[in-house]
Amino acid sequence: MNKFYIILPLLLALLVYNLNPSVPNGLEEKWKYQILMIFLKIVGSVGKFIGMFESGDDKLHNTLIGMNSVASFVSELYATDHFGPGVITSEADFNGTKVYIYQPPVTSDQLLPGFVYFRGGGLLYGNSKSFEGIAKKIAFRVNTVVINVDYTNTYYNKFPGPVNQAFGAVKWFMSHAEEYGVDPNRIAVGGDSAGGYLSTVISHLVHDDKSIPNLKLQILIYPWLQCLDFHMPSYQKYEADFGINTGFVNRQSMAIICSFHAWGITNLRLIQKLIENKHVSPSFRKSALYRKTFGHDLLPAAYRDNSYYKGASLPDDGDEDFWNESKEIFLDPRFTPQLRKNMTGLPTAYVMTVGYDSLRDEGYLYVQQLKRAGVNVTWAHYERGWHGIHWTKAGFTFRLQEKVHDDFLMFVRNNL
Ligand SMILES: *[C@@H]1O[C@H](CO)[C@@H](O)[C@H](O)[C@H]1NC(C)=O
Ligand SMILES: *[C@@H]1O[C@H](CO)[C@@H](O)[C@H](O)[C@H]1NC(C)=O
Ligand SMILES: *[C@@H]1O[C@H](CO)[C@@H](O)[C@H](O)[C@H]1NC(C)=O
Ligand SMILES: *[C@@H]1O[C@H](CO)[C@@H](O)[C@H](O)[C@H]1NC(C)=O
Repeated sequence: MNKFYIILPLLLALLVYNLNPSVPNGLEEKWKYQILMIFLKIVGSVGKFIGMFESGDDKLHNTLIGMNSVASFVSELYATDHFGPGVITSEADFNGTKVYIYQPPVTSDQLLPGFVYFRGGGLLYGNSKSFEGIAKKIAFRVNTVVINVDYTNTYYNKFPGPVNQAFGAVKWFMSHAEEYGVDPNRIAVGGDSAGGYLSTVISHLVHDDKSIPNLKLQILIYPWLQCLDFHMPSYQKYEADFGINTGFVNRQSMAIICSFHAWGITNLRLIQKLIENKHVSPSFRKSALYRKTFGHDLLPAAYRDNSYYKGASLPDDGDEDFWNESKEIFLDPRFTPQLRKNMTGLPTAYVMTVGYDSLRDEGYLYVQQLKRAGVNVTWAHYERGWHGIHWTKAGFTFRLQEKVHDDFLMFVRNNL
């Protein structure tokens, strides 16, 4: 605990320094959101400070290491028992990847369903321990065994590293499910944001691997699905709502996340290209595949409101050379799951989106894609919700968070 007393005065100084983030009026429980943003900014600032003692040349990489050590420290401080009273926690190694296991308190002779959870954080921030609250809540409320996969962040583990770890862990769990009292035919995957991305890709890979049964459900909470279009109407709305480079999922922060995912480093040239939306070649942007997957005309008219929507980027702006160097990654359906050719036969899906989110539109487009392929999909949209609402923070609950959780937990209970 003595570490805490050293950091406390520093936190207070930073708190005063960081006041006043801009927040749109329609956002539910705006004041609470502001407090949370200040807290996260402080974590970021302390992380930056700690990162200064790292030796590498990539400053952002050093900052991330610093931030994640603060995040680990904070998550150790925080009790999560009230999210799932009586849930039994343990750690294990699933074929080389660390996981946390949560067993519900009710013992039973029958096999239970299983739920594999992938945390959010852009594959870049935090660790699975900071998602213990929601993992316990799922175990308790659904009476299911939850596996929280602690995959390695992309600054040590670029694409396809996290996908391989996630798939390895799921496959291992599905082949050993009964040892954990779980029915391998009743396993769901799910996660928020980057965890939604991993869940999407894992649903594809499990479907294609005939040595294991298909997953029962995929639960995608405001999933992050693509690095191809940073000027979707929802990106434009987010910038109009929060201001440039402000908020959890602004264009710059998403470009950084994509850079680390693709290359494991801060590739400044890439980040600038992404922000300008000039990283995709004109021919690919004009292709039928691109238009039927990401065309803005596939979105409801209300999502292209001219109070914020200024149209799509011009396809001819793309940089052919850049695309040639990077397209192998971008076109890989494990990187851009919406480019998978055949969505038929994928598990029943629950897709949640929120109004204050740059990623609203990719979530919506995936819902439509699944529907067209005949997949059973339920779409839950919360207009006043914001990207981050799902993440549980001890003693800091949002009203809408309760509803968001109740809705998806009821879905899981009824369908798993
Ligand atoms: C475990 O990992 C190894 C190599 O990493 C792989 O060959 C094997 O198929 C995995 N086993 C399962 C059950 O996923
Ligand atoms: C990109 O690659 C394609 C073939 O893969 C080639 O035809 C084209 O000339 C390349 N473009 C540039 C600008 O290098
Ligand atoms: C798509 O996938 C489904 C289920 O796996 C399969 O039955 C169907 O033949 C596939 N369609 C095409 C065009 O490959
Ligand atoms: C689709 O999912 C809903 C909601 O769980 C369920 O009620 C319905 O029976 C499912 N339909 C099919 C065709 O599986």
